[in-house]
Amino acid sequence: MTQTNGQDAQTQVWNGAAGEAWVSLQTHLDQLFAGFETRLAEAVAPQAAQQVLDVGCGTGATVLATARRLGADGHCLGVDLSRAMIERARQRAASAELPASFEIADAQAMPHRAQRFDRIQSRFGVMFFAYPVAGFARLRKLARPGGELHAMTWRERADNPFMTLANQVAAPLVPELPVPQPGAPGQFALADPVLIRNVLAGAGWQQVSVERLDQRCTMPAFALETYVTRMGALGRVWNGLDVARQQRLRQRLLEAFERFVSGGQVQFTAACWEIKAQA
Ligand SMILES: C[S@@+](CC[C@H](N)C(=O)[O-])C[C@H]1O[C@@H](n2cnc3c(N)ncnc32)[C@H](O)[C@@H]1O
Repeated sequence: MTQTNGQDAQTQVWNGAAGEAWVSLQTHLDQLFAGFETRLAEAVAPQAAQQVLDVGCGTGATVLATARRLGADGHCLGVDLSRAMIERARQRAASAELPASFEIADAQAMPHRAQRFDRIQSRFGVMFFAYPVAGFARLRKLARPGGELHAMTWRERADNPFMTLANQVAAPLVPELPVPQPGAPGQFALADPVLIRNVLAGAGWQQVSVERLDQRCTMPAFALETYVTRMGALGRVWNGLDVARQQRLRQRLLEAFERFVSGGQVQFTAACWEIKAQA
């Protein structure tokens, strides 16, 4: 795998606890974020002969959904930094006979595919570039002239209480919890719409649109405990905590997250940006 400078930290994160968590929670995360998957797939015309690149495809849900829309001459390639997530994606695709394939790769460093793709899409996979302008400029070069970009990112932390509550609850008990650094790659790195526009303009994308997208998300309540203890910054330090601290924290987390549980389901609205542009 070729990598750009400064990407090593993300490669480590996604090949460690973060990647493992996404693999073990794959079914629930697919359900949770299904609305975004449908939106990406339905943007592709049925039976289209398009070449699609899915950036940061993870365990493959959006690639498989897109490939189901494409015709025999179309193809969707999913790329991701995480070996474990790509392995899961390949397992899922193996029996499906779809025009889909997967590669372990840094999307910012795919030199041999210039102007190859009609469409570049991503569900939450483009907020982790060490140098966002350079990263999106690389993506633009991978798109054919006039090719489309269609990506989803998270809006501000304050708009996404479900995504920030675990850190808030854990912080007093877990001083070793990594503190998010402003401007650093991460879930909320593209939360500012002005920044998104500047990054895409700097990267040479045209006809940029950045629209609010509020998406209802659900998953079974029984998956909540694993979700809050394995995902995000807390998930990365969870195994290093002693059993007593894990127990105290688990109880506090489940109490705090009760507000998102109703009728046996976790339910919340994800506050996101839907980004579209043309190469
Ligand atoms: C939040 S997860 C989303 C996964 C998937 N898109 C989904 O929605 O299920 C972000 C993914 O982006 C991947 N990623 C981050 N930076 C990347 C890069 N430069 N090139 C390829 N993948 C990257 C991570 O490995 C991770 O799988």
